[in-house]
Amino acid sequence: MITRLTLVNFKAFPRLELPLGPLTLLTGLNSSGKSSVLQALALLRQSFENARSTGAVAGLLLNGELVELGTARDVLHDDFGPADDLLDSDAPVVGLVIEAGESIRFVALYDSEEPDEDVMQASVSSELPQFLDTPFQYLHADRITPAVTYPRSRQVAIDRGFLGVRGEHTVNYLRHFAEREVPDGPLRHPDAPSPQLLDQTVAWMQELCPGVNLQASAVEGTDFVRLSYGFGGTAGINATRRRRPTNVGFGLTYALPIVVACLSATPESLILLENPEAHLHPKGQSRMAALISAAAATGAQMVVETHSDHVLNGVRLAVKRGALQPDDAVIHFFRGNGSGAEVITPRVDKDGMLAQWPEGFFDEWENSLDQLLD
Ligand SMILES: Nc1ncnc2c1ncn2[C@@H]1O[C@H](COP(=O)(O)OP(=O)(O)OP(=O)(O)O)[C@@H](O)[C@H]1O
Ligand SMILES: [Mg+2]
Repeated sequence: MITRLTLVNFKAFPRLELPLGPLTLLTGLNSSGKSSVLQALALLRQSFENARSTGAVAGLLLNGELVELGTARDVLHDDFGPADDLLDSDAPVVGLVIEAGESIRFVALYDSEEPDEDVMQASVSSELPQFLDTPFQYLHADRITPAVTYPRSRQVAIDRGFLGVRGEHTVNYLRHFAEREVPDGPLRHPDAPSPQLLDQTVAWMQELCPGVNLQASAVEGTDFVRLSYGFGGTAGINATRRRRPTNVGFGLTYALPIVVACLSATPESLILLENPEAHLHPKGQSRMAALISAAAATGAQMVVETHSDHVLNGVRLAVKRGALQPDDAVIHFFRGNGSGAEVITPRVDKDGMLAQWPEGFFDEWENSLDQLLD
């Protein structure tokens, strides 16, 4: 597990030291650097996967499958300072330091004569850091929307088990691994008829929309797969009628990659999620937090950006119910404005209570109520 991430001269951060837990919530203002934290982790993964598959010299590959960060000039913090602890010179560097049992430093030199390069030469203090090799998912805030078909890539969804940054390979993954068992433990939904992935996915999706069911199938003669929904009518045409995603609203399809990513988590997985709450009703948001907490409780490392009170409270409830240890939920509140975020980390106790409620940290309910009651 990664226990700490340090960013030096990376985008909004001159220097940021961020403790990470089995479940880390990144909360706070817009443009305060939350996604940049996920991008830093994904950048390392992207860079070293590339180096391994092409045999290229290790460097930070700024544009690729996981993140498109632009050029070295875009990534280097505008007011970059020296990083004496990382480099024995005044040259500008972007540094990413991971604590995962050992401390692994990635130090990328900024070449002021080539500011528009999209690869930054980097030195690494360890041979093949293990966390770059573990099962991995990264779901962006911008995910698949309801569509008639989705891509069918054996290489991505099946051989690599990757859902795609927009979750675009989820339907094919679900189709292929429908019968794979979700291991016994907190991820297993008690109401599902079997431990199989498709049944478990349906049971968790029913938390969002009672009675819904799913089918994922290949479209014969094409490179596409199709998703369809049913709504459990008991009589007449509604009992068997399938509906295409474009006719069932936004939330179910938007949440599907999150559900499948969590249910596919293994104790070694690293899973980065942006806004799992998007397009879900409040109770659904809270249930997504329960699912994410369950994935963390099985041993996966979950790093989750959220703007949702309900996700926060869902995690607090998981702690209160004993599904997650208090120290395993790490909550960060970013309140910078893009010029070097300030991060506050309120601790959760065993009852799910928070030690601190800094101004601006999910206090809008209270602020609005005060004004309404005034
Ligand atoms: N090279 C750079 N130097 C300084 N600041 C930068 C640089 N590149 C990006 N930034 C700043 O980093 C911030 C990026 O924020 P990020 O995308 O991580 O936001 P976020 O907290 O995820 O927001 P949201 O809640 O809207 O998703 C922006 O404020 C941007 O101005
Ligand atoms: Mg963001």
